[in-house]
Amino acid sequence: MADSPAQFRGQARLPRFAAPLRYDLRIRPDLAACNFSGAAAVAVAVSAPTRFLVLNAAELDVDRASIRFQDLAPTDVTQFEEDEILVIGFDRELPVGEGVLTMDFTGTLNDQMRGFYRSKYVCNGESRNMAVTQFEAADARRCFPCWDDPAFKAKFKLTLEVPSDLVALSNMPVVKETVSGPIKTVYYEESPLMSTYLVAIVVGLFDYIESSTSEGTKVRVYTQVGKTNQGKFALDVAVKSLDLYKDYFATPYPLPKLDMIAIPDFAAGAMENYGLVTYRETALLYDELLSSASNKQQVAITVAHELAHQWFGNLVTMEWWTHLWLNEGFASWVSYLAVDSLFPEWNNWTQFLDETTSGLRLDALAESHPIEVEINHASEIDAIFDSISYDKGASVIRMLQSYLGAERFQKALASYIKKYAYSNAKTEDLWAVLEKESGEPVKDLMTTWTKQQGYPVIYAKLNGHDLELEQAQFLSDGSSGTGMWIVPITSCCGSYDAQKKFLLKDKTDKIHIKEFTAFQSSDGDKNIWIKLNIDQTGFYRVKYDDELAAGLVNAIKAKKLSLMDKIGIVEDSYALSVARKQTLTSLLRLLNAYHDESDYTVLSHVTSVCLSISKISVDATPDLNKDIKQLLINLLQPAAIKLGWDPKDGESHLDVMLRSLLLIALVRLGHNETINEGVRRFHIFLEDHKTSLLPPDTRKAAYLAVMRTVSTSNRSGYDALLKIYREAAEPQEKSRVLGSLSSSPDKDIVLEALNFMFTDEVRNQDSYYILGGISLEGREVAWTWLKTNWDHVLKTWKSSSLISDFINYIVSPFTSEEKAAEVSEFFACRIKPSFQRALNQSLERVRISARWIESIRSEPSLGQAVQELLQGTA
Ligand code: BES
Ligand code: ZN
Repeated sequence: MADSPAQFRGQARLPRFAAPLRYDLRIRPDLAACNFSGAAAVAVAVSAPTRFLVLNAAELDVDRASIRFQDLAPTDVTQFEEDEILVIGFDRELPVGEGVLTMDFTGTLNDQMRGFYRSKYVCNGESRNMAVTQFEAADARRCFPCWDDPAFKAKFKLTLEVPSDLVALSNMPVVKETVSGPIKTVYYEESPLMSTYLVAIVVGLFDYIESSTSEGTKVRVYTQVGKTNQGKFALDVAVKSLDLYKDYFATPYPLPKLDMIAIPDFAAGAMENYGLVTYRETALLYDELLSSASNKQQVAITVAHELAHQWFGNLVTMEWWTHLWLNEGFASWVSYLAVDSLFPEWNNWTQFLDETTSGLRLDALAESHPIEVEINHASEIDAIFDSISYDKGASVIRMLQSYLGAERFQKALASYIKKYAYSNAKTEDLWAVLEKESGEPVKDLMTTWTKQQGYPVIYAKLNGHDLELEQAQFLSDGSSGTGMWIVPITSCCGSYDAQKKFLLKDKTDKIHIKEFTAFQSSDGDKNIWIKLNIDQTGFYRVKYDDELAAGLVNAIKAKKLSLMDKIGIVEDSYALSVARKQTLTSLLRLLNAYHDESDYTVLSHVTSVCLSISKISVDATPDLNKDIKQLLINLLQPAAIKLGWDPKDGESHLDVMLRSLLLIALVRLGHNETINEGVRRFHIFLEDHKTSLLPPDTRKAAYLAVMRTVSTSNRSGYDALLKIYREAAEPQEKSRVLGSLSSSPDKDIVLEALNFMFTDEVRNQDSYYILGGISLEGREVAWTWLKTNWDHVLKTWKSSSLISDFINYIVSPFTSEEKAAEVSEFFACRIKPSFQRALNQSLERVRISARWIESIRSEPSLGQAVQELLQGTA
């Protein structure tokens, strides 16, 4: 085996004795036959004598007879499908130095939304295919043989042969086009050094609009023919973001042009291909009349995220997928910076706590993983595009920035970008630059957060004039892990002017109250409140003793706390309650303190906690469920009544978001008045789609209201929604309908909605809308449906991370040990690496709920507390 092609099998990474310098690629897609042919000439640097060239190829037919290295023909060509490698053997050693490897190949334009694939659209009433690439993480190898590893950066020179009437786009601008009958040949400029996963091709019929940055970089948005007005908002955000990043990273946008394009079939939300960013339609297109405020935010954040990658990811690239978070965590964090500067009225940094929240929730599972994770096979990469890499990643960056200070942090980032431009970096490389620029122990501090899974909860207790702190790993199952962190503690006492910051390095530490700078105990120690983790910049939770907790409740009621701190308190309290570290009773009492809150950002967390409580109480306390729901309705209703259903002239973006949020929550809590009003407005809307009674922002609430009233014997609402779906041209409207269809309490209707997913009326990319909407009443029927259809689901969605959604959405709502065992048994012989983690996490959530239920049932004073609170809020 020592000198055979098989010696290269089973390795995570390609051998480094030969590396590509430049790819000259000629590719000819056939959009009707759904296949393509290509020819590659790759300049390769051989750095050590070898008889083999080893590169990646998958689902490609490489023509063995065409392969040459210089003028040498190989004696042995082996393609190992499972390893996705192509081993080219020669009868003698290749000399050290540069040579050109040439080969011809063919492949399929698949329907799996990865590699080189086809997407369907309709133009002038005619159904057509477009050809699109999606290479991240490891699918460039499905389009051409290559060293498909982010560290093998090379230059790319593409030539495409396409039907003359189509638009053909790639990373770089066109240098030349020649037409020969029905086929045109398009030549593109050679790219700078870049990784394979960022190469892109799109071929189809499109229109575009154009603008340019202050530096003169041309920026275009391509849309389907006749739809360019929907690209205007994204174009504007793009141009402004590019200007902003150029200043922030102190480096100009590296390419001569930037194109952005909406693709009708798209597995992710968007993809940052260098100079040719691809998007799901809902993440790029915005229509003044047809999109909601939340659609608008989504577009802005997505554009800002993908453009941040042009520096963080594309110019400086992670050395290996272990460091994926450097790409995704940073792009997520920076996107908030850009959007905050473009739309200050959105209060974007407070909304950032949505990211922190999902990071904290996922990372409280034993089945979580460290930010830096070992990758041994390409098939493991997709699964780490998760809340840990994105949300925890972005949150620990915010934590570090807040510790180092914004200015120092930015300066260090700019020098990191300069140092590693056109090259690759590891997590340690970033820490080294930050450490050098700041003089702070960045590496020691941050390693505890990136190499170790989980995070701490800080127990805070007042002992005389000492605030005693103790850290322990927080886990939602109530156990304590063994992790230890260096925790940037921030705290304030009685006012935001009286602060104390330090690094908690040991298990315990304490602060003397007098240490709070500018501390005055004017209103007597009785009314003192102490808040740790000011503005939730730290990635940890806090458990206060009863006295401190009571102080904070008073501070909330007295409106002394920032929006972020109010969010932090309710989120921590909820998590501690799930982990059985505090009672549901005390959580309900705390929620009561948010009774007259009117801010969207705070209420979005409050409603999410309310909905979780309402769900768990269905199984935990069926007798009390109605009263608990009423209590939660009473809590949310004042703000909802103030806003009503109708938009008001000049109201803020966040109030528009809040209206939608509250109406949806009230419908989900079963509030009859809201449901009836939603149904009333829906009927008017059915007659007149232009009615001002149901603008896009409140439409989802009305759709959900209608579905609450639908049953097999009264299905007209369901059919009406299907009709809206079929007639809607806008993907955002379609997604609103899909997200409602499965939310009926009627099991047969839920089943019908699930089966609708399998028809060709629903794109495979959109399955998660239906899955995400399944009613609690429908969870059993959904599980049976999943078991029955598992083979089909696996076959259709296997190659994307969408497969995990089926498991997450269908398994997680269960709340019993028996169910966990049943699910686990079903998958025992069906497990695959691509959804193993999703399954383990879902099962863990089920078991956590089961334990939470047991503990809720043994809370002696819950019933009485609910009655008391009900009387207080009625
Ligand atoms: N690089 C990702 C796209 C991606 C995701 C490729 C998963 C391969 C697998 C892109 O930059 C991204 O993060 N997109 C996000 C949108 C963003 C606003 C968080 C997405 O697709 O959801
Ligand atoms: Zn990204």
